[in-house]
Amino acid sequence: MITSINKNEIADLWNRLAERFNTHLPLGKIHPDAAVNIHVGWPVLFQQIEYQAKFLGVKKCKILDFGCGAGEFIKRLHKKGHSVVGIDHSENMLFAARKFLPKNIELVHGNHESPIFDDPKYHEGFDIITAVHSLEWIEDIETTFNNFAKVLRKGGIVLFAVFPKSHIVDSIKIKDLFEDFDSPTDPTVGYANFSGVRVPVYIRDASFFDKYFEGNGFQKILEVYPPYPKYFFREYNWSGSKEPEMMILSYRKL
Ligand SMILES: C[S@@+](CC[C@H](N)C(=O)[O-])C[C@H]1O[C@@H](n2cnc3c(N)ncnc32)[C@H](O)[C@@H]1O
Repeated sequence: MITSINKNEIADLWNRLAERFNTHLPLGKIHPDAAVNIHVGWPVLFQQIEYQAKFLGVKKCKILDFGCGAGEFIKRLHKKGHSVVGIDHSENMLFAARKFLPKNIELVHGNHESPIFDDPKYHEGFDIITAVHSLEWIEDIETTFNNFAKVLRKGGIVLFAVFPKSHIVDSIKIKDLFEDFDSPTDPTVGYANFSGVRVPVYIRDASFFDKYFEGNGFQKILEVYPPYPKYFFREYNWSGSKEPEMMILSYRKL
């Protein structure tokens, strides 16, 4: 069970994890936990971003990446010509991002309650909000999504990847990464233990997200569970669960 922890303490846990989520390094030096995002999640997101540009009839999109970490994902989006803003609550993650990202990429130090969500400069300004493994660490997810809705234009999408429950159930079984859950068969809250850095994690089914978004003026447009590519197991010496590691969902603001 989760012992009480405040937002600054959580941000500090992520400061301690900045070296693990080192997606800005050359491919061979990237930690397997971070490499999953690159090889499994990002390709799906890139494709959906292309579809969204077509849907809106624009060449390039305005994208907010929530929990941007070391920033490699937004660097690639910027290279494709999109206009991107990254937000993260970890100073150490942003320190890495600032070192190698082009200076015209805006990086914001803040969390899901950041004042940027009420800043008129961003009001209904984004075509897309992305979040790759950055939402399952948040207990108050409704506030987070209410804030996303404020800065998303009509027709804009929220596009995010979180752990599916089946991955957590299997990981608990093989005693990898996840521990101290409320249930081994229907886990909803517990910890991810990154070599001793224990971060509270909240596991939600697709039906939870459907209910929130469909009740708040959004339409569901995507639910996929991309498989690991075979080469990934070999190249990264993967010892974790082989159950799909990501549930990728997307909802459009009507
Ligand atoms: C697993 S890393 C993923 C980083 C990046 N999205 C990627 O694809 O590699 C999770 C990131 O979310 C950030 N994060 C977690 N909770 C957050 C919150 N409440 N507000 C802002 N950032 C948060 C962490 O600091 C970390 O950079």
